[in-house]
Amino acid sequence: MIKINENFLELQESYLFSTIAKKVNEFQRNNPDKRIIKLGIGDVTLPISKSVANAMHNAVDEMLIKEKFKGYGPEQGYDFLREKIVEFEYKKRGIDIEKDEIFISDGAKCDTGNIGDILSKNNKVAITDPVYPVYIDTNVMAGRAGKYNNGKYENIVYIPTTSENNFVPDLPKEKVDMIYLCLPNNPTGTVLNKEQLKKWVDYAIENKSIILFDSAYEAFITEENIPHSIYEIEGAKKVAIEFRSFSKTAGFTGIRCAYTVVPKELMGYTESGKEISLNKLWNRRHCTKFNGVSYITQKGAEAVYTEEGQKEIKENIKYYLENAKIIREGLIEAGFTVYGGKNAPYIWLKVPSNYTSWEFFDKLLNDVYVVGTPGSGFGPSGEGYFRLTAFGSKENTIEAIERIKKMK
Ligand code: MLT
Repeated sequence: MIKINENFLELQESYLFSTIAKKVNEFQRNNPDKRIIKLGIGDVTLPISKSVANAMHNAVDEMLIKEKFKGYGPEQGYDFLREKIVEFEYKKRGIDIEKDEIFISDGAKCDTGNIGDILSKNNKVAITDPVYPVYIDTNVMAGRAGKYNNGKYENIVYIPTTSENNFVPDLPKEKVDMIYLCLPNNPTGTVLNKEQLKKWVDYAIENKSIILFDSAYEAFITEENIPHSIYEIEGAKKVAIEFRSFSKTAGFTGIRCAYTVVPKELMGYTESGKEISLNKLWNRRHCTKFNGVSYITQKGAEAVYTEEGQKEIKENIKYYLENAKIIREGLIEAGFTVYGGKNAPYIWLKVPSNYTSWEFFDKLLNDVYVVGTPGSGFGPSGEGYFRLTAFGSKENTIEAIERIKKMK
C-alpha cells in the first residue's frame, strides 16, 4: 500500500495565487466583455533587456558548434556567473563572499522551499506575519508546522508585522531555530534599516538560530541605510543564508534564474551538538537533486552585469517604481491608508473597515475589474489589508487606480 506524506493534508486549500487565478478566470468566463486589470501576482510585464536577449542568442549559437556545445554544466552554476555575482552584488558593497558560497538555481521560490531539506524537522520555525506563503507551506509539507488551528499552525511562531508596530517585527519571545525574513517585504513592501536588522542577526548569533533571508526585491531599494544584503550586518555570515533572484530584478520570472548564498562559516548542529557546515550540506543536496540552470539562461543572467545590461535593468526598475508611486499617491487621494511601494514593488493598503481582505478582493473584481491579493492570504496578520503590485504596465496601473478612485 502506498503511504502518502500526510503533512500535505495539513495544507490550506490551494496555493494562494492558484486560488486567485481560479476566481479571476471564472469571473472572466461569466463576464467576457469586462477588461480585467491584474495587479495581483507579482509577475513582471516588461520584456527582458536587449543585452540579456543578445547573450542568450549567442549562447544558442554556441550550442550549434561542436567545440562549444555544452551538456550538463556544474550543478552549482558556471564560474562566469558566480564570479560576476561576487563582484557586482557583494564586493561592490564591501562584502566578502566567495564564488563557492554561491549556488545558482532556477528560482528563489524553489530554494526557500528546498532549504528545509538540510535542516532538522525538529527545528522551531518563526515567520514574520504576513509573509510570502511558500515559507509556511513548505514547512507544513516537511512536518515542522503541526496542526492548523484558528488560522495558525500550532508549531509555527508568528511574529505580527503590521501598522501597529510600524512593520518592524519584534524579536521572538521564545527561542526559535529557523527565522524567515523577507526584506524588502513581500507582501507589505516595507523594509528594516541596518540597526533594526542587526537586532535579528544578534538574536540569531546568541541563540544559534539561522536566518533565511529572502532579498528577492533588493534592487527596488531607493532609500539610504536600508541593507541590500544581510551580509552588510556584522556577524551575519555566521547565521544567515541569503536568497536572491533575477526574476524581479531583470525580468526572469519566465526564464528562471536565481542564486542562494550559503557562507562557509555558517554552521548547523547535530542533535549531539556537533558543528556541520551548511555550505557542504547544501552543496550535497544541490548536486543530488538539481542538474544546474541551462548555459543559455546563465549567459543571459551574466549579461545583466554588463554596463548596458545594468543600465537597462535600472530603467525597468525605475518604471515599476513609478507605477508604485502612481498607486500610492492615487490610493491616498482616494482616501486609503497605504504602506510600502518606496523600496519595493508592492503597495499594502488597509481595506475599508467593513470588509475582510477577501471581501475587498471580490468587490474590486466585481465592481471595477481590478485584481489584487487579499492580505489574509499571506497570514493571519494580513487580514484587513490588501496588496497591489507595481509590475503592471503604466497604462493599466493608471487605469486601475482611476477605476478604484471612482468605486463606491
Ligand atoms: C508574489 O506575487 O508574491 C510573487 O510573484 C510570488 C513569487 O515570486 O513566487
